[in-house]
Amino acid sequence: MCGIVGYIGEEEATPVLVNALKKLEYRGYDSAGIAVLGGGKLVVKKAKGALKFLEEVLAKETVRGSMGIGHTRWATHGEPSDINSHPHTDVSGKIAVVHNGIIENHAKLRAALEAKGVAFRSQTDTEVVAHLINSHYQGNLLDAVVATLAQIEGSYALGVISEDNPDQIIAVRKDSPLVIGAGKGENLIASDVPAILEYTRDVYYLGDREIAILYRDRVEFRDCEGKPIEKTTTHVEWDVAAAEKGGYAHFMLKEIHEQPKALTDTLRARVKTYATKAINLEEIGFDASWAKANRVFISACGTAWHAGVVGKYAFERFARIPVDVDIASEFRYRDPIFDPNDIFIIISQSGETADTLAAMRLAKKAGARIIAITNVVGSTLAREADLVMYTWAGPEIAVASTKAFTTQLMCVYLIALQFGALRGTISESEMGQYLDELEALPAQAEKILENKEEIQRFASLQFNKTKAFFMGRLFDYAISLESALKLKEISYTHSEAFAAGELKHGPIALVDKDTLVVAICTQRALFDKMDSNIKEVKARGATVLVITYEGETYFDSTTNGTFRIPRTNDAFTPILSVIPSQLFAYYCAIQRGLDPDKPRNLAKSVTVE
Ligand code: AGP
Repeated sequence: MCGIVGYIGEEEATPVLVNALKKLEYRGYDSAGIAVLGGGKLVVKKAKGALKFLEEVLAKETVRGSMGIGHTRWATHGEPSDINSHPHTDVSGKIAVVHNGIIENHAKLRAALEAKGVAFRSQTDTEVVAHLINSHYQGNLLDAVVATLAQIEGSYALGVISEDNPDQIIAVRKDSPLVIGAGKGENLIASDVPAILEYTRDVYYLGDREIAILYRDRVEFRDCEGKPIEKTTTHVEWDVAAAEKGGYAHFMLKEIHEQPKALTDTLRARVKTYATKAINLEEIGFDASWAKANRVFISACGTAWHAGVVGKYAFERFARIPVDVDIASEFRYRDPIFDPNDIFIIISQSGETADTLAAMRLAKKAGARIIAITNVVGSTLAREADLVMYTWAGPEIAVASTKAFTTQLMCVYLIALQFGALRGTISESEMGQYLDELEALPAQAEKILENKEEIQRFASLQFNKTKAFFMGRLFDYAISLESALKLKEISYTHSEAFAAGELKHGPIALVDKDTLVVAICTQRALFDKMDSNIKEVKARGATVLVITYEGETYFDSTTNGTFRIPRTNDAFTPILSVIPSQLFAYYCAIQRGLDPDKPRNLAKSVTVE
């Protein structure tokens, strides 16, 4: 999730571009760059790291010109570096491109271009776009862009300029957001409204597969075949701070709502439809040798560890392989017994958590092969692991992890299913079924978000409870752990998670009329067991909320409230059933007048032991 901007007008473009990028830095801060056309020459300046490093470069070398494009990067392909920073140019250096999204077929396109002698400079997916535009360029930039769109697959918001077309910026949108700011004698492009509010409040929202051609005095629109289309402006009332949160009150709520898109982005590039649907992890270098492992270890901290607990159930269910899952701060001081064939899966949003890194290094030293699941390209974890699978959730600003968690689950499922396919424990038709179910999850998550008022109402009644217990079995137990952590860390409610069957072995002694119990009930084969656990806590005066499936009446007679999620495979429910718990924690924090984005005593990345 990068931020792109563009300006064409009468003013100096550089200060406008830098100022606009400042408003988009929450979208990515791995590197920044601009390309400006002045005096008939295209000048590109870029620098690794936060925007301030680019400003230092520009302070030394002023870049003049009244039209240009800019970018702030959240790396997905190619580590953060000067060479991988955007804008990317073609071999002539006359065409420059900024991009937000993922070109999924970049490897194939790159190979074809390299076979024609095109020399690539970076490891990014984006650079293929600049070279493709060049390969189609016959003097008309729009035609070259349209021809390129016919070749690229994936998600993209693009800004394109060319030295030979100094009067226009071409902007394109597919799946990644892009707005056009309509000014007086000037026009702008941006990934999000905050970047342009200082210059205009009249914006065009570019639709999917639409193209905008910005001139100084007008903006024209085309569909992706180049045919003219009409569009109208919207007047934006928001202030900049609200706009950075996309109109949401907090980054946490915004990131909860970003889960459907993050899940789609994380899944789509890894599912290929050949004769039947199949998983393709070639891009991360995963081959059949990995599935020959005798055992899988999974380790992580906090929320990432909870994704590991889901992983244990998933690997055992789909790949029939034994799994050892442990908290990294425990694992690093255990003297675990490794077999050279063992696989070690390490999970971390930040890729910088000290205990997690130590656990990985211990496993590596013992000869285990390491698969890292992380959200940050170029993080220490990514650099030291043997294989890296990125969650494409974009930057997660709020301390409480939400979209990184559900995309970690998506990665865990994909690896577990691929293990199953390679070990022959899953047939082709079963795989097709499972992938259909995974592909349905983003829309089902969207549906849950549409019903968030129900959870908000329940929170307004229960936020004052002093004790909250989350309980479930198997996959639901893993989500009980995550749900309790969310409520703890942002509402400061004492909340715990129990394997429901464990209740009567002690914890039930804590249950009384001041206790809220949230029972997560999606494992169909265990409904009767859960029902008796619910009756046990009800009998001690607890208030019970059940999270279960749409149309499920099994628990209606025993519960104080039911939140229903769409039906899916019992093994995949964690991606859905965690969302009402994220929302519940958020609304309880709001009811208590707390800031959900910056909970006390916590940091987004724990880089010390
Ligand atoms: C989760 O909401 C917390 N921020 C925390 O438990 C976090 O999951 C843990 O510190 C691990 O962080 P990581 O995923 O960046 O390694």
